[in-house]
Amino acid sequence: MADRVRVGVLISGRGSNMASLIAASREADCPYEIVLVASNNPEAAGLAIAQQAGIATFAHPHKGMKRAEFDSMIDGALRSAGVQLIALAGYMRILSAEFITGWQGRILNIHPSLLPLYRGLDTHQRAIEAGDAEAGCSVHVVTPELDDGPVIAQARVPILPGDTPDSLAGRILAEEHRIYPEALAQMARKLR
Ligand code: GRF
Repeated sequence: MADRVRVGVLISGRGSNMASLIAASREADCPYEIVLVASNNPEAAGLAIAQQAGIATFAHPHKGMKRAEFDSMIDGALRSAGVQLIALAGYMRILSAEFITGWQGRILNIHPSLLPLYRGLDTHQRAIEAGDAEAGCSVHVVTPELDDGPVIAQARVPILPGDTPDSLAGRILAEEHRIYPEALAQMARKLR
């Protein structure tokens, strides 16, 4: 098999999507490998999961640093690791336009809504409050506008009577774990 595309994953928290990307990367025919997991939160639970999987990690708190300065540090870590494609997986920090431009078309994000609906935070609560019949998740290419950029994969789930933001989030998360590895693999195949 041809060389695998080198992926860097950015996380801020529990890292369940990152774990699903790692699990898929262990399949023999997966077109990507994860070479670095980086975080703006040294306490992110996902860092330990990555380390247990034998993946290099980089963590530095963003507090006290200018956005451009912090992003340039992350950029350096990714480039030193030979990363070719970035997957944001619960990375709770807005990336500077400079960073995004430097990786044009090579950053993916998973967002828990049916984009273009509900960009930003509290997506599950907003979908329930709007009385929507369905919710879901989207994988999109990252552009300088928040939660914008071409959607390359989407999954839908029903919103059920009595759903809370947590119950809905759980139903959607299972779909996130299914579609993100597929979308990342699809993107990696294009870069190979
Ligand atoms: C997920 O719901 C993802 O869609 C959103 O942040 C959450 C991250 O969860 N961007 P995890 O850290 O992957 O478990």
